[in-house]
Amino acid sequence: MSDNVLNFQSVKLEEEKSQLVILDQTALPNRTSYLELETVEDVWEAIYKLKVRGAPAIGIAGAYGAYIGIKHSKSTSYEDFYNEFMKVKERLASSRPTAVNLFWALDRMEECLKNNKDKTIDEIKDSLRLEAHSIREEDKEVCKTIGEYALSLLKPGMGILTHCNAGTIATAKYGTALAPLYLGAEKGYDFKVFADETRPLLQGARLTAWELNEAGIDVTVICDNMASIVMKNGWIDAVVVGCDRVAYNGDTANKIGTSGVAILAKKYGIPFYVHAPLSTIDLKTKTGDDIHIELRPGEEIYKTWYEKPMAPEGIKTYNPAFDVTDAEYISAIITEKGIAYPPYEESIPRLFDK
Ligand code: MRU
Repeated sequence: MSDNVLNFQSVKLEEEKSQLVILDQTALPNRTSYLELETVEDVWEAIYKLKVRGAPAIGIAGAYGAYIGIKHSKSTSYEDFYNEFMKVKERLASSRPTAVNLFWALDRMEECLKNNKDKTIDEIKDSLRLEAHSIREEDKEVCKTIGEYALSLLKPGMGILTHCNAGTIATAKYGTALAPLYLGAEKGYDFKVFADETRPLLQGARLTAWELNEAGIDVTVICDNMASIVMKNGWIDAVVVGCDRVAYNGDTANKIGTSGVAILAKKYGIPFYVHAPLSTIDLKTKTGDDIHIELRPGEEIYKTWYEKPMAPEGIKTYNPAFDVTDAEYISAIITEKGIAYPPYEESIPRLFDK
């Protein structure tokens, strides 16, 4: 396997220039370009427009965004500085509602600020910078460990279907659902991967296919409505996906279309694996019904990727960015603390005790 793709950094702080540099995921696969973000508004827009995307990467960008937002603060008292931070936090938290990692990372930054209350403002700023770094560095380890657990469920030569992009660029490194594929490739496993294109924003075709292709892993792009035929053909031995929020009972929000794939997998007796850092599990969300599903502009369905509109101008649209896969369709949830099996109300809380 060529591991060059694993060296891409989707989010990086350029300390000297006070810039957050992100890989523009909307330009892939045609261009590898980076954006230099200098303000909270820049970071907000990059997250909202999916230039940086994928639950863990959004969390990392949010954490650095919070640092960028207060780095130049002129506040001299802790109270003023804290209030300024909270405005920045609130703004960043409004960029996308479903992936819980964003809120998790911003809460961690707030906690860090409070824990350093007795320091000078400059020292607090520095602690926040280091906290954002830690969030990113920990994610690398978390993803690698998820990959190791996940690989224990797969065998060489398997046909694997994946939806959306839960790869290296959606995280600090390795990805979640794609981590076992990278780790397996290093060991010479010859997986045959099918990437759903993942309408409407094509994260599967543009990003997953690009990543795996760069790594020299066998990948075939299919339209979303072809998942059933490849399963029926007997080409799929496992489905691997990432997630944006896992509820207490195991219901899982992931990119729109995931639940349909899970229902099909059950029909064809194919295991359906969700890959979730603990930062994506939200014990406060009791079931999938409590997950806020992001609605996005309808233009994404019929304009964004096309030269000409692919539906009548101004047509009514419905464009939810995510759907919820009911726990009953999920064979296992793979985390950095091990693999949870149903019943998830029992196995998920146990992960947090480890
Ligand atoms: O809208 P996106 O592209 O941010 O949605 C991303 C997904 O649904 C991913 O599967 C999920 O965030 C996990 S990324 C490791």
